Amino acid sequence: MTSHNLQVRNLRVYYHTPRGAVKAVDDVSFNLKAGERFGLVGESGSGKTTLVMALLRMIKPPGQIESGQVWLDGQDVMALSEEEMRQLRLAGIALVAQGSMNSLNPVTRIKRQLIDGMKDHAFASTEGTAHERHGRNDKGGKMSRRALDAHARDLLTRVGLEPQVAAMYPHELSGGMKQRVCIAMAISLRPKLIIADEPTSALDVVVQMQVMETLRRVQEEVGAAVILVGHDMGLMAQFVERVGVMYAGKLVEVSPVRDIFRRPLHPYAQLLIDSVPSLEEKDDLEGIPGLPPSLLERPSGCLFHPRCPHATAACAAQEQALQEVQPNRWVACHLVESIHKNF
Ligand SMILES: Nc1ncnc2c1ncn2[C@@H]1O[C@H](COP(=O)(O)OP(=O)(O)O)[C@@H](O)[C@H]1O
Ligand SMILES: [Mg+2]
Repeated sequence: MTSHNLQVRNLRVYYHTPRGAVKAVDDVSFNLKAGERFGLVGESGSGKTTLVMALLRMIKPPGQIESGQVWLDGQDVMALSEEEMRQLRLAGIALVAQGSMNSLNPVTRIKRQLIDGMKDHAFASTEGTAHERHGRNDKGGKMSRRALDAHARDLLTRVGLEPQVAAMYPHELSGGMKQRVCIAMAISLRPKLIIADEPTSALDVVVQMQVMETLRRVQEEVGAAVILVGHDMGLMAQFVERVGVMYAGKLVEVSPVRDIFRRPLHPYAQLLIDSVPSLEEKDDLEGIPGLPPSLLERPSGCLFHPRCPHATAACAAQEQALQEVQPNRWVACHLVESIHKNF
């Protein structure tokens, strides 16, 4: 066992379509430390959602996890039984799914939705520190209805909502409030890892920042690591410590966020950062010429080479694996030394 909270090794997830296998996640490896905030960034269709859903073993046909290993705190996720996996999804890894704020049940009060998420499973596990047990009853057993009510109100307060929100229906809430409810649901079982898939993409910039601040605060309180999925490098810069850049199902750069902003090493990371929109014009990624490749008919060699301003014949001929080119900086590019003078 290591100090890593999450380890992902050589993960491959394909969608088997009549036209062939869509390699949505293709040999992805990365680690996450306990409590770390990690960003997964890339254009729409680059495989971000597929990757995080695979960590939870929630890939549905025609998708399939082809190979790879995932460990959470030394636990081999791929080897768990369905029942163990269900427990892990509830209490180990929490998901704020893409579009989740619009999939709250419209005819159920917020309190009910919060409680339903916790009720049967919340206290199945009795391990953890006294701090982590906060919110459980003294015996570590299931909570009374009154205690669940109180816990629901407490959760709402912790994400910056009034306790009265418990009695409301989703349509009575703004987008930002709904997203806070989703975060409250995610933290209710004190997970080790929170996955938030584009949690703020439907919100305006000011509300985005407020929701991200809330996520950061509760994440620190709970001591959970976070994977934030998004396409907005600007938002990543504000929130995460390290970022993994995905292109066509592959990680092309994994670096500390400060380093990648100061000096992106992969040409695609460079383009993503150049395209960070100003507050006035929020049209993401408009500046990147060309289109992402079809994941069915992929280019030879480096998948980015047809769009890369630096590409050479070597790039079309051969793929470069992700390698640590500087301490803590992983890049998959043949040209990293020639592009970056004084490397
Ligand atoms: N159910 C599916 N069937 C076939 N292809 C899919 C399915 N879901 C996703 N894909 C394909 O997998 C790729 C990655 O999708 P996704 O993980 O949603 O990317 P992202 O979250 O980065 O936008 C895309 O090319 C997408 O078209
Ligand atoms: Mg997605």
